[in-house]
Amino acid sequence: MPTKTSERWDIEGAALEKQLTDFGYQAILEYGDDDPEKQVEQIQGMVDQGVEFLIIAAIDNRSLGEVLASAKDNGVYIISYDRLILDTPDVDYYASFDNYQVGVLQAEHILQRLNVEEESGPFNVELFSGASDDSNSQYFFQGGLDTLERYTYDGTIRILSGQTEQGETSTERWSGAVAMERMTGLMEDYYEDERLDAVLCPYDGISRGVIYALEDWGLTPGSDDFPVITGQDAEALSIQLIRDGEGQTQTVFKDTRDLAGVASGMVKTIVGGSEPEVNDLGTYDNGFKFVPAFLLEPVSIDESNWQEELVDSEYLTEEEIDDAVEPQAEEYDPPRN
Ligand code: BGC
Repeated sequence: MPTKTSERWDIEGAALEKQLTDFGYQAILEYGDDDPEKQVEQIQGMVDQGVEFLIIAAIDNRSLGEVLASAKDNGVYIISYDRLILDTPDVDYYASFDNYQVGVLQAEHILQRLNVEEESGPFNVELFSGASDDSNSQYFFQGGLDTLERYTYDGTIRILSGQTEQGETSTERWSGAVAMERMTGLMEDYYEDERLDAVLCPYDGISRGVIYALEDWGLTPGSDDFPVITGQDAEALSIQLIRDGEGQTQTVFKDTRDLAGVASGMVKTIVGGSEPEVNDLGTYDNGFKFVPAFLLEPVSIDESNWQEELVDSEYLTEEEIDDAVEPQAEEYDPPRN
């Protein structure tokens, strides 16, 4: 798993470990602390210990070629988990969500909240994308861009910064601190005298960094002039903000328990001598091949359905939402801790 500063990896690391041990296998779980070299060392260490399967949520999707070649030489099956591993022939399967659809859901939320079918705007929107070394970022961003395109084309939506490329909108390490800094810069450069109506944010940690910057700028979360803010991962603190009307208005829930189930199920099927079920053969080109994938559906969450989707399904408890603190707090000094 890539890091502990984003809640989802914590939840699914534990889920994977449990499912695999329940199947009677031994599992080694390690976190790479967002450090690509550390992750390569961890994988090599596992190969040296004689593992037969690797389930990897990569930190840098392009840095694993060599270590995976050594794993393959040892007959290891390799499952690319959540994030597609690029530039290597040695990935056997990909277990993930429909990543493009994540961006579609975020952008649809913005269109709906701005009521673009009734109101002509123009509305000012800014865009954030995720870490540039994570292959998912491009799918999220493209889904968002394609959904907004009709409205940017006809002038209903304006992006005053003109920053619409992945490179210039990216947020290294998915860091809230990095996002906070970029948002502050955008406000200074383009919004001294203009209203900002929405910010496309690809991940809850980034959404909160953006919210902190807007609060510092003098805007009040929840007030009418606070922009619409999207997100992803249904992190407890972001659900608290959505529930309480405190700035973030949407997130995308990917039930990571199900994803862990898909990956551990792939292992079990291969151990049993069969081929795992896939439902996508033509989307995820990793530079060498289209990796056979099993994709799950993401769900858009706002104040109307968080309870049903997250609490009733036991993904989060009310207490976890009440008591949530900023998981990236050690990396910067967010005003809410
Ligand atoms: C995952 C997202 C997550 C992000 C930051 C992406 O690869 O698909 O669910 O928000 O990484 O950890």
